[in-house]
Amino acid sequence: MPFLSDTLSRVKPSPTIAVSNLAAELKAQGKDVIGLGAGEPDFDTPQNIKDAAIAAIVAGKTKYTAVDGIPELKKAICAKFKRDNDLDYTPAQVTVGTGGKQILYNALMATLNPGDEVIIPAPYWVSYPDMVLLAGGTPVFVEGPSQNGYKITPEDLEAAITPKTKWFIFNSPSNPTGAGYTAAELKGLTDVLMRHPHVWVMTDDMYEHLVYDDYEFATPAQVEPGLYDRTLTCNGVSKAYAMTGWRIGYAAGPVEIIKAMGKVQSQSTSNPCSVSQWAAVEALNGLQDYIATNNEMFKRRRDLVVSMLSEIEGMECPVPEGAFYVYPSIAGLIGKMSEAGTLIDTDETFAKALLEETGVAVVFGGAFGLSPAFRISYATADETLREACTRIQRFCAALR
Ligand SMILES: Cc1ncc(COP(=O)(O)O)c(C=O)c1O
Repeated sequence: MPFLSDTLSRVKPSPTIAVSNLAAELKAQGKDVIGLGAGEPDFDTPQNIKDAAIAAIVAGKTKYTAVDGIPELKKAICAKFKRDNDLDYTPAQVTVGTGGKQILYNALMATLNPGDEVIIPAPYWVSYPDMVLLAGGTPVFVEGPSQNGYKITPEDLEAAITPKTKWFIFNSPSNPTGAGYTAAELKGLTDVLMRHPHVWVMTDDMYEHLVYDDYEFATPAQVEPGLYDRTLTCNGVSKAYAMTGWRIGYAAGPVEIIKAMGKVQSQSTSNPCSVSQWAAVEALNGLQDYIATNNEMFKRRRDLVVSMLSEIEGMECPVPEGAFYVYPSIAGLIGKMSEAGTLIDTDETFAKALLEETGVAVVFGGAFGLSPAFRISYATADETLREACTRIQRFCAALR
């Protein structure tokens, strides 16, 4: 009898974490490596948030809390949904978990039965398909090609829906492409969902605040109030407040699913870290000015990376609306040979050769379900980005 479970054999470890680990390993060996794999802001957590956490520790708020979040945080989350999304939720409709990741996992664990299908637009955040598999469901992919700004169309969504579809996972702005759906584009998708009342929407709004130019964020229950009763609106403090290590994510939706998610959490981790919850209260209720300041920096970096990569022959780099990723297509480079003699036959060999020959670590598109492409996280210093893009330019210019 095998010791490890059959379920585990269906999933793979996170490829983005694998790239970060490999880059760290090479760095430790003294190699000149630039890691562009990590999906987290390089800014420090704002001081007011740190102070709130310190105050919580000093006040002894260091014990178990309610499993799915302290009332003060749930109240702050309800206020945030009203303020930012014009959505009305009561605290009973809110759940708090250990990062956005646990929230999504709880929701899938609480709802999926074998055979249930979950529609996932590709390219996708690496964890969606594996979480669906772990929860016993079946991922169904719908491709959003680069020519369409990495977005899917209403027709694509319609064609993917079957009687077995339970969820449609929506993520805008997206990891890995940064693509953001306008309210009108999203309405096209929600119109389809209105025709299929058995399909629920799990919207992952993690990058809501990281948006550039005149792009305006929109979320499904806001664009189509008719979907309110079958939408789980997921979000978190990790990206907007540079709080990836604090591990606080949250969701709001119908009470029945919120309760079910709490049940899953009660038998796994119990409450998210008490101190982090108090920090998140401050993040959501406190001044929000630094988000705009950080965004100016992110936008400058996005423009730098897009313009440098767009100079490369054979590479297409759509301009993303948000998040801190770009996802250039390398269709024009497949079949070429690198200077060191590696045949670039897939985006995986491209990323590997790029790392070995130039020291730049990126994540290959296959990991996100749409090839041939790669993801760069530009949440790093301008100078580092300029150097990395110069190396990528040189590497590509030498391809024969
Ligand atoms: C699209 C998306 N959703 C969810 C998460 C998870 O966020 P957290 O760090 O809060 O678990 C991430 C993190 O990379 C993400 O990119």
